[in-house]
Amino acid sequence: MANTARTADSTPGAAAGAAGEEVLLSLREITRRYVLGEATVDALKGVTLRINRGEFVAIWGPSGSGKSSLMNILGLVDAPTSGEVMLEGTPIAQLSDDALTDLRSRKVGFVFQSFNLVPVLSALENVMVPLQIQGVGAAQARERASQALKEVDLENQQHARPDKMSGGQRQRVAIARALVTAPSIVVADEPTANLDSENSYMVVKLMRELNRSKRVTFIFTTHDPRLLEMVDRKILLKDGLLHTDETVR
Ligand SMILES: Nc1ncnc2c1ncn2[C@@H]1O[C@H](COP(=O)(O)OP(=O)(O)O)[C@@H](O)[C@H]1O
Ligand SMILES: [Mg+2]
Repeated sequence: MANTARTADSTPGAAAGAAGEEVLLSLREITRRYVLGEATVDALKGVTLRINRGEFVAIWGPSGSGKSSLMNILGLVDAPTSGEVMLEGTPIAQLSDDALTDLRSRKVGFVFQSFNLVPVLSALENVMVPLQIQGVGAAQARERASQALKEVDLENQQHARPDKMSGGQRQRVAIARALVTAPSIVVADEPTANLDSENSYMVVKLMRELNRSKRVTFIFTTHDPRLLEMVDRKILLKDGLLHTDETVR
C-alpha cells in the first residue's frame, strides 16, 4: 500500500519512502472550516495524505465532499484551518507571503475547469504569461511557450485566440501553460467538466503522457468513472474525509 512504511517527514528536503519513493507533498490532519456569518462549514475534517513524485492521482467523490477545498490546499492557494502542509519537505505555514507566492509560482501548475485563458491573447501569449510573471525575458518565454505548445500537439495553433479553438484545444493550451514553468506538480480541479467525453479522454490521456515523459506529478478531480481507469491512484473523498485511497498499478 502506498501509505505505509514510510520514513518520517522530519528529514529536511525530500524524504525518501521505503521503496525509494520521494514524498512530494504531505498533508497531515488537514481541516478547512469556512465561516460565513453565523454559519460554519467543515469542508475538510482531518485529511492525512502523501503524494509521491511522479504519481498520477485522481480525487473523486460527490459534489460538496471537499474536493475543491483539498485541491486549493494542495496547490498552496488556500491555507488549512489546522494541520500541516509540506511541499518537498518545506512546511508551508512557516513561509512569508512572498516566499509562498514564489514557491507556488515555481513548483505548482494549475489547470481549471473553465480553462481561464486570457481571451485577447493568442495561445502562445497565454502560455508565456506564467514565465513573464517569473520575470523570464520575452525571447526566452516565447521559445519555451512554443515548446510547451508542441508538447500538447498545438504547434499549429500558436497564434490562434482561445475563442477560435475547441474546448479540448483550450484545455491543452491550459495544460501547456501549467507545464511551461516546469513545475513539480500540476493541480487540475475538474479539468474535463466542460468537455465532451471524447475530449475528456484526450485531455486525461495527454496529462498521463506528460506525467510519464516529464515525471511531473498530476492530481486532478473528476466525477467521471471512465477517467478513473486511467490513473495510478484514486482517492475517494466523502464528507470531508478520505474514504478510500487505492493504488491501482
Ligand atoms: N469559499 C467557501 N465559503 C463557504 N463554503 C464553502 C466555500 N467553498 C466551499 N464551501 C463549502 O464546503 C463544502 C465542500 O465544498 P468543495 O470543496 O467545493 O467540494 P467539491 O469540490 O467536492 O464539490 C461544501 O459544503 C461547500 O458549500
Ligand atoms: Mg469542486
